[in-house]
Amino acid sequence: MARILVVGGVGYIGSHVVSLLMEAGHEVTVFDNLSTGLQANLFSENRLIVGDICKEIDIFSAMEGQDAVMHFAAKKAVAESMENPAKYARNNLIGTLNLLNAMDHHGVKYIVFSSSAAVYGMPDVSVVDENTPVNPINFYGFTKAEIEKCLQWYDRLCDIKFVALRYFNAVGYDMNRRSRGHEANPQNLLPIIIEVAEGKREKLKIFGDDYPTPDGTCIRDYVHVCDLAQAHLLALDKLMNGMDSQILNLGTEKGTSVKEMVTAVEEVLGKKLNVEIAPRREGDPACLIASAEKARKILGWKPQITDLHQIVKSALPEDL
Ligand code: UD1
Repeated sequence: MARILVVGGVGYIGSHVVSLLMEAGHEVTVFDNLSTGLQANLFSENRLIVGDICKEIDIFSAMEGQDAVMHFAAKKAVAESMENPAKYARNNLIGTLNLLNAMDHHGVKYIVFSSSAAVYGMPDVSVVDENTPVNPINFYGFTKAEIEKCLQWYDRLCDIKFVALRYFNAVGYDMNRRSRGHEANPQNLLPIIIEVAEGKREKLKIFGDDYPTPDGTCIRDYVHVCDLAQAHLLALDKLMNGMDSQILNLGTEKGTSVKEMVTAVEEVLGKKLNVEIAPRREGDPACLIASAEKARKILGWKPQITDLHQIVKSALPEDL
């Protein structure tokens, strides 16, 4: 049992991790500014501190007495990061530095950090391993890459051990519906398709069908949020048992195109969706698939929910 501060613990991925940490018997404190995370994602038993990592006093006082940190709090809309870099610099970069300083001040030695495949930018290869050059092409990805470098320095200078988990495309919700991890105003493909199915949006715009992929639409590696959550527990356990700092990809090693995702939702729901081909979105790589061999070897992690229909079913609201 450890005392874990989960920063961003009522957000989409954080709330799924909180439910697993509690199941495993850890003492969880959630720290969140409730800017995008929903309080409905909170479990009654666990403590919530409403605070902001951008305010040193908030994060310094929350850190006292903790054994480890899981850090999910970040802004993550790629397009917005290009329009409003100051927001991303403040929340992602400065906020994380405050958090690391608070850890150092209170002698907290372990952190699991949410990084992203966005650090790779437009890689030359379609299957990406951790040695693929880090070359972000949006400011969001830049903030994640810079934080990884800060983590390496704080490891070297302050002996804070970290695992940075580079998520590919997180999807779905807890199959047992313990946590729903809903987000306000989702911006990602599957939640958007579902909003079209619900009639909340008029249509899905497919951003380009002239990519060099079999059906012309972009391919991504969609990894279930429960599998991601599991990797965090494995990482924490290994860190607290003496593992050295690590940077690890988390993906299924399987690619799904935008059209394949649409078809999967149509098949599960038994109805056609309103879809339109739109121009390419700037900065979209044609194909991004993880090699997760390192996470497999180091953490013993293997994604369990890889069937697309199962993923789609887990993402649907109960009334659809
Ligand atoms: C990006 C980041 C990822 C980050 C995520 C957070 C990169 C390479 N990846 O993922 O690290 O965690 O944002 O939000 O920067 N699409 C449509 N129509 C839509 C929406 C999406 O066709 O309305 C397509 C996109 O072109 C893309 C795929 O669906 O090919 C997935 O898009 P999205 O869910 O936005 O995620 P990424 O951009 O892949």
